Amino acid sequence: MPTRFIYKSAICGNITPQYCAQSKQTMLNFLNVLALFALLSAAAGAATGQAWWETASFYQIYPRSFKDSDGNGIGDLKCITQQLPYLKEIGIDATWLSPIFTSPMADFGYDVSNFTEIDKLYGTLEDFQELLAKANQLGVRIIFDFVPNHSSDECEWFIKSVKSDPEYKDFYIWHPGKISENGTRVPPNNWISNFRGSAWTWNEDREEVYLHQFHAKQPDLIYNNPKVRELMKDVLRYWVRLGVAGFRIDAVPHIYEVAVDADGNYPDEPRNPEVDNPESYLYLEHIYTRDQPETLEVVFEFRQVLKELDEELGGDEHILMAEICSSIDVEMQYYGNTTTDGVQIPFNFELLNYLDQDSNGYLYSEVINKWLDSMPEGRVANWVLGNHDQSRIGTRLGADRIDLINLLLKTLPGVSVTYQGEEIGMTDVWISWEDTVDPQGCQSNPEEYQSLSRDPPRTPFHWNDGHKAGFTEGNTTWLPLAEDYRLVNVKRERGIAYSHLNVYKRLQDLRVEKTLRDGETEVKAINANILGIKRYLTGERTFVVLLNINNAFETIDLNATFNDLPNVL
Ligand code: GLC
Repeated sequence: MPTRFIYKSAICGNITPQYCAQSKQTMLNFLNVLALFALLSAAAGAATGQAWWETASFYQIYPRSFKDSDGNGIGDLKCITQQLPYLKEIGIDATWLSPIFTSPMADFGYDVSNFTEIDKLYGTLEDFQELLAKANQLGVRIIFDFVPNHSSDECEWFIKSVKSDPEYKDFYIWHPGKISENGTRVPPNNWISNFRGSAWTWNEDREEVYLHQFHAKQPDLIYNNPKVRELMKDVLRYWVRLGVAGFRIDAVPHIYEVAVDADGNYPDEPRNPEVDNPESYLYLEHIYTRDQPETLEVVFEFRQVLKELDEELGGDEHILMAEICSSIDVEMQYYGNTTTDGVQIPFNFELLNYLDQDSNGYLYSEVINKWLDSMPEGRVANWVLGNHDQSRIGTRLGADRIDLINLLLKTLPGVSVTYQGEEIGMTDVWISWEDTVDPQGCQSNPEEYQSLSRDPPRTPFHWNDGHKAGFTEGNTTWLPLAEDYRLVNVKRERGIAYSHLNVYKRLQDLRVEKTLRDGETEVKAINANILGIKRYLTGERTFVVLLNINNAFETIDLNATFNDLPNVL
């Protein structure tokens, strides 16, 4: 007899075979999009020898928006410390914090003016040490954001570089510019910044232009200069010695640019024929400012620094997560090769980049398998479904699919990365042009800002249904609060059996299962609407995850879908 199940979007969290048998009726009644079965098989179990991070659940905190202790409407470290038990409650092993270093905040901390100092807005070194102490007690590891590509223009290094101080003169990419036919000074070439417009800005004091691949207040450091490399490696050493478990490396593809030619010029980048707007970053193919082969070497050197620290300090391995956002072939190179260790977690943005509201099961399957099939032997997969630069899951893929996506995230093999608020189903907040603060939005115009601004997924976290969602006791928040916070918040969702939060927690509970930690994976589209995932391991329960991506009843013959399914109890 084939095993047949009929779904009108059914949900099951932690289903033991017994629970599954008793609750089939209940399952069919829940609004939703997913089902998960645990099946029993015989034979002996497999041994594990995994490093701590290999099946870890990571959580990104965007500190400005997490929780505020002093009423200024901006989140801070004291409140992260206070809320660490919440991370424990949802089963998080490690949290990566967007930058908390001294910064003029032109790009909300990604413009660092002192890489080894905590910004006063977020607290003090002592606050950070308290955070770390409590995190250690609770077993939550702290990962810092490391921004090697650029500093702030208010960083001492840049200020000295402007003055041509011999030590810092060549820390940044300076150029005298060119004289145009009509006698005016123009940038040396056509390079465009990620935040629109020329990537070169004139500096009156030095009488040269400098390169910035992001904001003009984020000058690019030059990695050909060994002093720059060494100083940035010292930054890693400094924070590891203070106790962080690793780093997320920011904007990796941009670290190197092509070298200047014999005449002191940088080549123009070719046009992208698909984009007409000369202000837009997408107007050019960034063949000279992204993915240069030397970048890989620098990142491998960063890993080497951590390996040396591992040896020196003993204890658990320190890790690197990397924001690469390139083609999958390039991303795979960052895993390293047979002779050199790369980063443990080159962020996998495939699901983020290629899925939208109209994607069907075949595309889900293709995108997932692409990563699994491309990974070099012995490396660990990771899945990133959101971050502070991207529209939230509920907005991007549909509010009905929030649980479905969390199910995917928690049952695929390897590392899961959740952006704060995705576990309670927060969605993007519409923000007017007047209230927009993100430089990527602000440097555009009222017509285009909505497609560029990253403010909508960065709004304050919803702790409860009280004053300002429990985010702050003050009367203002740095970005507007979502209107739905009375319905979508931690406090309320704790009390609702199948809230997003409780579904997330139950899925998280499953991650102790040996099969989900060590098991094999088979992912396939059963039809356009249903994605099937089989996780199996000899001697352990087999898990079959079925995601009903759309909103129709579906009948599935599981035995016809996956080979060798053990009997359902
Ligand atoms: C990364 C960050 C983004 C920042 C940029 C420049 O992409 O995620 O928020 O604006 O780097 O540092």
